Amino acid sequence: MEKITLSINYTVYDSVEEMLPLDRELVQAAIEAQKSSYAPYSKFNVGAAVRLDDGTIVKGSNQENAASPSGLCAERTAMFTAGAQYPGIPMVSIAIAGGPACTLCEAPATPCGACRQVMAEYQMIGGKPMSVIMAGSSAIWKFDRVEDVLPFIFDSL
Ligand code: THU
Repeated sequence: MEKITLSINYTVYDSVEEMLPLDRELVQAAIEAQKSSYAPYSKFNVGAAVRLDDGTIVKGSNQENAASPSGLCAERTAMFTAGAQYPGIPMVSIAIAGGPACTLCEAPATPCGACRQVMAEYQMIGGKPMSVIMAGSSAIWKFDRVEDVLPFIFDSL
């Protein structure tokens, strides 16, 4: 028998000013995307922005529905839009911003498990690491690859 400890690395920024310009731009796009959130039920507005390998930024936001399972998270809205509009171009980064009334929560809002699984598959087919950036009002966290937010990724392909 052996007990194993996993560790993950991530970078904590105190503000967007500390970030690389491309990452800062992506966080700002995620915050901008919060404005298109349709969240009359949870009143929690989430924006996401995906950067493609060619530099294109694709935004998405959470879209709710009275039949609640029919809604979709911001991250998957952004990734599915990118997959549908720019097939074959790797997604190299995703930024997430969430909070009530289009504000940011103090600690970063973190992506749900289903969104992490979708990130994993797009990272796999893209063949390049996809960084995951989570923005809060008092800290921004950057993970360099999806494995760092989803260990033991399910991969049937
Ligand atoms: N939500 C996201 O958009 N992304 C996540 O990763 C977690 C939750 C949305 C779903 C729902 O519209 C609202 O936040 C409250 O759960």
